[in-house]
Amino acid sequence: MKKFYPLDVLAVRRMNMAGRAKIGIEHPYFEVIDRAEERAAAAGHRYVNFAHYDYLGLIGHPEIQAATHEALDRYGTGVLASRLVGGERSFHGIFERNVADFLGQGFSMALVSGYLTNVTLLNHLLGQNDLLIMDEYSHSSILTGASSSRAPKLFFNHNDLGHLEELLKEHRDKHRNCLIAIEGIYSMDGDIPDLPGILELKERYGAWLLIDEAYSFGVLGKTGRGICEHYGTDPKRVDIVIGTLSKAMVSCGGFIAAHEAVIEWLRFTLPGFMYSVGLSPIIAAAANTALGIIRREPERVERLHAVGRHFLERAAAAGLSTGDSIGFGVIPILFETPEQTLAAGAMLKASDIYAPPIVQLGVPKNAPRIRFFLSAKHRFEDIDRTIDLIAANIEKGQRPA
Ligand SMILES: Cc1ncc(COP(=O)(O)O)c(C=O)c1O
Repeated sequence: MKKFYPLDVLAVRRMNMAGRAKIGIEHPYFEVIDRAEERAAAAGHRYVNFAHYDYLGLIGHPEIQAATHEALDRYGTGVLASRLVGGERSFHGIFERNVADFLGQGFSMALVSGYLTNVTLLNHLLGQNDLLIMDEYSHSSILTGASSSRAPKLFFNHNDLGHLEELLKEHRDKHRNCLIAIEGIYSMDGDIPDLPGILELKERYGAWLLIDEAYSFGVLGKTGRGICEHYGTDPKRVDIVIGTLSKAMVSCGGFIAAHEAVIEWLRFTLPGFMYSVGLSPIIAAAANTALGIIRREPERVERLHAVGRHFLERAAAAGLSTGDSIGFGVIPILFETPEQTLAAGAMLKASDIYAPPIVQLGVPKNAPRIRFFLSAKHRFEDIDRTIDLIAANIEKGQRPA
């Protein structure tokens, strides 16, 4: 099984030193974006950002700005208590109803952090007699939640249904409940799981399925409803959907969507919800208004898909490797060495294109890459310029296979 490395300060420091020693560059992280944008504007350039999650081009949308101002004026900056004991505001329920309707789930509940949503849910859901089976590429938030769960844990090889079935065959009967956890789009590779195959397995073995749609909400499917819409499967066959408000909904926070009874139970038992403050009026208004626009303007999703297709085609034509990405919102370009990756990232940055290298942080040590988050707002000409710059920068013979 491939080994993953969590964000490791020493690794960054080593990489920084290696980068400086070998190719004369500083590490590319914690870029101050507003300053970089100002510098680019002063030089008469457009700053092109591939590092943010604004898939549908909604940040700064006038409707979202106006709704946020209105919420601030009406409710103030926070709700000042846990909703369980401090009471809710009507916007909480309205937003949660809208998320559930969009996804075809019974109901939903919103929490103040996407990361915390996975941590608290996975910590809470299973007991020592249950079993948790996860894809080996699971996000850090899933791993952290799982590590604090009392349930035994198993990993299946990434997107390998044969391996998942082997684990179910061998272990399912020895446990009371079994939860399989996967993601809608895997954030470092831009690939997706075989949902119909996993649904068939989970139903045959009597397991539950949790899908983290952090990266697929607003991205997969013709109208952005996620992986079920992509495959044309009934969303009710998925037991729990997790998502974040920080990506397509350009806000901040997380949600859980499931059958009404599950959400009602979680509202009274989930520690990260009961003992944490309710969503602030400002971020709830931003997310709810963004969701309304996503529903009303599916052409944004269509445009995002076209941007992804264009990126994949151009990268292939330039002989660059995009790994297993299917081109929906997340596309990596793979490099042979961390030094090569860092040099390409620095070269892009010098051209006012922000796409930081991912070197040993959340990806296998031997698979350095620059990860591109795509947006409906990206222009084809900027994608072409980016690909051309990378291709020109990679010396002949150094291209990754
Ligand atoms: C799969 C997945 N789940 C959850 C999260 C956490 O979301 P947030 O950044 O909104 O806390 C992330 C973060 O990128 C993620 O990749």
